[in-house]
Amino acid sequence: MSEFRYELIKECKDTGARLGKIHTARGIINTPIFMPVGTQATVKSLSSEDLVEMDANIILGNTYHLYLRPGQEIMEKAGGIHQFMNWKRPVLTDSGGFQVFSLNDLRKITEEGVEFISHLDGSRHFMTPEKAIDMQNSIGADIIMCFDECAPAGADYEYTKKSMEMTTRWAKRCKEAHKRPEDQALFGIVQGGMFEDLRAQSVKELTEIDFPGYSIGGLSVGEPKDVMYRMLDATVPLLPKDKPRYLMGVGSLDALFEGTIRGIDMFDCVLQSRIARNGTAFTSHGKVVVRNATYKEDFSPVDPECDCFVCRNYTRAYIRHLIKTNEILGARLLTYHNLYFTLVTMKKIRQAIMDDNLLAYKEAFFKKFGIAE
Ligand code: GUN
Ligand code: ZN
Repeated sequence: MSEFRYELIKECKDTGARLGKIHTARGIINTPIFMPVGTQATVKSLSSEDLVEMDANIILGNTYHLYLRPGQEIMEKAGGIHQFMNWKRPVLTDSGGFQVFSLNDLRKITEEGVEFISHLDGSRHFMTPEKAIDMQNSIGADIIMCFDECAPAGADYEYTKKSMEMTTRWAKRCKEAHKRPEDQALFGIVQGGMFEDLRAQSVKELTEIDFPGYSIGGLSVGEPKDVMYRMLDATVPLLPKDKPRYLMGVGSLDALFEGTIRGIDMFDCVLQSRIARNGTAFTSHGKVVVRNATYKEDFSPVDPECDCFVCRNYTRAYIRHLIKTNEILGARLLTYHNLYFTLVTMKKIRQAIMDDNLLAYKEAFFKKFGIAE
């Protein structure tokens, strides 16, 4: 029997936000949640112990990357991703659908699957829904994704409809190919581009197949923010209330608030860790480009209001020096802080839903933070 279950704790009176718990065999995930991205079975520069210390509940892995390196056989011999990286809490893997499309110019999509060229060595591969599930069965994440096509930004109605309908057929094949439904929850991925009726059709078809959770894909692919929010408005209310909803690849600070307000339970984003590596920090008073000369002699913490180990022990001037000299510790300290800051913000969002003041908290947050990008 699967232990996977979404428990709805509370619905916000003023918005579509909800407080919940995802129960898994490896622990409880309090939602709405932000999931740090660990593409290659590592959240870049951080150890699994760091992630426990910052209280990350669940992290992400990528099937596409792990399939190419270290490969399926090693992932199996390792005993799965949890043992491989010494992470005992839940993991979610993306199916590779999105990565095949974003990292490969030379790919060929057919009903059977996708032929693509490795971005590492130019070798040829053929990925199918069955193979993507088989690989995810070997990786052993607690939550896994259907193999889907993420239609490119600006795709027209005709293309998007065909692509979304194929994604539905692939979702059926994924469910049939899934060998570990008792300990891995397989999510369907809603597609449909920027067309409300196609989003609705996608939800209808996927919920008929029936999955333990639903992801929303094909967003944040270059469309304006208000279009993305309009697509959420057209999608989330149609999804079953008793299953988690995951907005894929979205997690800028404003999207965390706006997504939560529209009923999203799970987010992931590389933004926090990517900007950290180029010397930028999120703080309560907005983004701080620590690498700028302004901070050369600034011996205050990255964010005076943050209580992470970086802010308790290191200064902007020191971290700026590390970033300027390309020392790996600089990237590590900022990555830790940015993820900590984001996780704390989500904790405050959950508390605000509990206290019935989410909209007031959002206003107070951005009054201090300024405009998020
Ligand atoms: N990550 C961000 N967007 C997507 C998407 O549309 N599909 C998948 N599989 N992953 C994503
Ligand atoms: Zn900090």
